[in-house]
Amino acid sequence: MGKSSKLKTKNILITGGAGFIGSHVVRLFVNSYSEHHIFNLDALTYAGNLENLTDIENKENYTFLKADITDADKINDLFAEYQFDAVIHLAAESHVDRSITDPLAFAKTNIMGTLNLLQAAKNTWKSKLHPSGGQGALFYHISTDEVYGTLGATGLFTEETNYDPNSPYSASKASSDHFVRAYGETYALPYVISNCSNNYGPNQFPEKLIPLFINNIIHKKNLPVYGDGNYTRDWLYVIDHAIAIKLLFEKGKLGETYNIGGFNEWKNIDLVKLLCRQMDKKLGREKGESEQLITFVNDRPGHDLRYAIDAGKINKELDWKPSVTFEEGLSKTIDWYLANEAWMQHVTSGTYQTYYRKQYTSEEGE
Ligand code: NAD
Ligand code: DAU
Repeated sequence: MGKSSKLKTKNILITGGAGFIGSHVVRLFVNSYSEHHIFNLDALTYAGNLENLTDIENKENYTFLKADITDADKINDLFAEYQFDAVIHLAAESHVDRSITDPLAFAKTNIMGTLNLLQAAKNTWKSKLHPSGGQGALFYHISTDEVYGTLGATGLFTEETNYDPNSPYSASKASSDHFVRAYGETYALPYVISNCSNNYGPNQFPEKLIPLFINNIIHKKNLPVYGDGNYTRDWLYVIDHAIAIKLLFEKGKLGETYNIGGFNEWKNIDLVKLLCRQMDKKLGREKGESEQLITFVNDRPGHDLRYAIDAGKINKELDWKPSVTFEEGLSKTIDWYLANEAWMQHVTSGTYQTYYRKQYTSEEGE
C-alpha cells in the first residue's frame, strides 16, 4: 500500500473504474484533480480490464484496490483504512442479456454491493451526517435510464418519471437507486444520483451492441439484430458522460437526481446501417458490403421498445451538453477499435484476465 502516505486533500473512491465508463471517469479525475487522491476499487470481473488504464496507472494520485463490493468486511476495512471523503459508484453487472440468464448475480452485486458501500459510507461519515449537508462527503450513484422502463413512440424520460423497470438488470439498478435515496432520507447521507442513456466509445466490452458489431464487421461475421430492429436507444459518447459525472460531482445538488442523455435517438436497425456504411468506407470495402451481414434473430425477452432522455435539467443547471454528434462519436469509436486491435484481441482471447491483473493479485491479495 505504498501510496497511502501520499494522500492529498480528498480521498475519492471510484468503484468499477476498470470497466468501460469507470475507466474514462478515473482517467478524467486523475488528470483533473492533482490535489485529490483517486482510488479505483474493482473486483476485475470479466468486464474489468486494467489495460484500459495503462496511461495513468503510475500517477502519484492514483491507487488501484482489487476488491469485491459484495464483500462487506473488505469494504469496511478499506473505508476504515483510507477514510474516503467521496464515493462515485459505478461497479455493477451491466449487461441486460446476462441479467436474463443470471438474475441473482445482478441482485448480489447491484443491490447488496451498493448496500455494503452505503453502510460503510454511513459509518465512516457518522459525524458529518446532517440534513443541512454532508460537509464535503458525497455518495454519487451512477445509474441508468432503464429504471424508467419503456417509452412508446413518443415522450421522454424526465427526473419525475416513475420507476418501472422491466429486466432483472434494470430492477436491480432501480432497487439500488431506492436504497441510495432511502439512506439520504433516513440517515441524511449526502447523495446525488444520475440516470444516463446508452453509452458508446473506446474500451466498451464487445458484448454490447456497438463494439460487438464493430468486431463482427471487421471479421465479416453476422450482425445479430434482435427482433425487427425497430427498438430505439438514445446514444451518448462515453467521454461526454464522464464530463457530466465530473460536473455533477462538483456542482450537483445533494439529494437530487439528474438525467443524462445524448439528445440522440436511433432505431437499432438505422444505427447498424450507419455503422456498416462508416466501416465499409474506413475498411475500403464495397458500399453495402457489411449490411449483408445483418441477420435478424430471436428477440430479447422483455425488450424495452424505446428509451429517450430529457436532459434539460443538467443542461440548464450546469450548462452540460454532448460535445460530439453521433456521426463524429461513432467515427472516433470505430477509429479507436481499428487502432487498438490488440485490446480487442486480448479481450476476446481472455488474456486480459491474466496478464494485466497479475501484478495486483500479488500486491493486494485476494
Ligand atoms: P462495465 O460492465 O463495463 O464495468 C463494470 C465494472 O464493475 C467492471 O470493471 C467490473 O470488474 C466491476 N465490477 C463488477 N462487479 C463488481 C463487484 N462485485 N465488485 C467490484 N467491482 C465490480 O459497466 P459500464 O458499462 O462501464 O457501466 C458502469 C456503470 O454505469 C454501471 O453501474 C451501469 O449500470 C451504469 N450505466 C451504464 C450505461 C452504459 O451504457 N454502459 C449507461 C448508464 C448507466
Ligand atoms: O440505457 C442504458 C443502458 O444501456 C445501460 O444501463 C446498460 O448497462 C447498457 O448495457 C445499455 O443497455 P442496452 O440493453 O440498451 O444495450 P445493448 O448494447 O445490450 O443493446 C442495445 C440495443 O441493441 C438493444 O435494443 C438490444 C439490441 N441488440 C443488442 C445486442 C448485444 C441487438 O439487437 N443485438 C445484439 O447483439
